[in-house]
Amino acid sequence: MPHALLVDDDTNALSALNTLVAREGFTTSTAATLREARERMAEQRPDVVLLDLVLPDGDGMDLFQNVESRDNTEVVLITGHASVETSVQALRLGAVDYLLKPVNVKQLKAILSRVSRPPDLKKEIGALRGELRSLGRFGRLLGTSEAIQKVYDQIERVATSAATVFITGESGTGKELVAQTVHDFSRRRKQPFIAVNCGAISPQLIESELFGHEKGSFTGAVHDHKGYFERASGGTLFLDEITEMPIELQVKLLRVLEAGAFMRVGSGQQIEVDVRIIAATNRNPQEAVADGKLREDLLYRLQVFPLHVPPLRERAGDVALLARNFLDEINRTEQTSKIFAPGALESLVEYHWPGNVRELKNIIHRAYIMADDLLHADCLPVEVEKSHDVTSPFFQVRVGSTISEVERRLILATLQQCNGNKEKTAEMLGVSLKTLYNRLREYESQSA
Ligand SMILES: Nc1ncnc2c1ncn2[C@@H]1O[C@H](COP(=O)(O)OP(=O)(O)OP(=O)(O)O)[C@@H](O)[C@H]1O
Ligand SMILES: [Mg+2]
Repeated sequence: MPHALLVDDDTNALSALNTLVAREGFTTSTAATLREARERMAEQRPDVVLLDLVLPDGDGMDLFQNVESRDNTEVVLITGHASVETSVQALRLGAVDYLLKPVNVKQLKAILSRVSRPPDLKKEIGALRGELRSLGRFGRLLGTSEAIQKVYDQIERVATSAATVFITGESGTGKELVAQTVHDFSRRRKQPFIAVNCGAISPQLIESELFGHEKGSFTGAVHDHKGYFERASGGTLFLDEITEMPIELQVKLLRVLEAGAFMRVGSGQQIEVDVRIIAATNRNPQEAVADGKLREDLLYRLQVFPLHVPPLRERAGDVALLARNFLDEINRTEQTSKIFAPGALESLVEYHWPGNVRELKNIIHRAYIMADDLLHADCLPVEVEKSHDVTSPFFQVRVGSTISEVERRLILATLQQCNGNKEKTAEMLGVSLKTLYNRLREYESQSA
């Protein structure tokens, strides 16, 4: 039987809580002060601590910070006095969840049912580490590079908590797959994972799509309609391209996150929700705030746990593994056994992948269709093929040159190689056309 330690200086609240938690199949012990809590913990290590934030002999957070071997003890904060800010802070420090006072029985049950299951989750995560070493795979994600392993570490750390995750990264880096993986290793994994692309729903419909509507609430609303929030109940809601959500709706979303309840369009009745939010954008969030595309307060609330997925060019070590796996996948469905010809993988590895993993996947697919049994480099788009072109000219760099000098010479040599085509040059250099133009203008003014 799992064991719970309940810490609260309000003795009435404590005994009520004790009854509720015992009814959920926990053995319990109770404490009214930090000192007592420490004593109880020394007697028996709890699987979960339900912890009031404000205690007579100090801040509940202090106890939480010296909970040893956090691997085995989960902390849920109970807070009456604290604002949402404190709860966000607690989640950042690693609390699995928080409850607002007066404690809502349904919410408490939901949290306890999730908290009491960590052993099998831990076993799965352990197995995952093994797979990573032998197959280069972490759940649905492939890759062994240092950069992607950092992402795995973060997923592992955040998955089991209730924290909201904010995923950033260029287009095609795997943000949605990362979101799905966070869900797969969370306590919510047997509940739905629902992905919503905020950019793909018309601004007029997005509110009713998210929150649902009552019959007759607007023209065309002929039935009651459950929104994504209700459908994701108990699970995870992935809000992709969050900066495309209309600003008025961002205000509503923030309110829902803070209150844990929402209303269907055309209804005055609050519906409680137990949904974990993961949001993503391929834009720089601070710039999106500056451009008025993302509300700062919403960003702050979503960014309890920020997770950046690095571009593929920063994990070139994974390209061959990804390419082979994508080819294997197609071979499996098509029942063929095509393989890469010598040189093709080298070209793939040296290319800079502006469209990231998605581009790699698409290019493999196209090459598969073009190839007979062997995927030669000439089945690849010319810019990829040329990235491993041993006939490309070299230029020597003298040690002692400045970086800007080397940059200037590389840019001009590439421009020459591309016969003055600036789009191609920028692409080959992996910079934006604007950057290229700026550099060329600088060089002109320097030589003038
Ligand atoms: N590490 C990975 N291992 C295996 N497949 C991957 C990996 N990363 C991405 N993919 C695959 O690449 C494609 C793009 O990934 P995904 O849709 O998650 O990217 P995204 O960052 O959400 O892109 P966008 O910003 O355009 O929405 C998908 O088909 C996904 O399965
Ligand atoms: Mg996406």
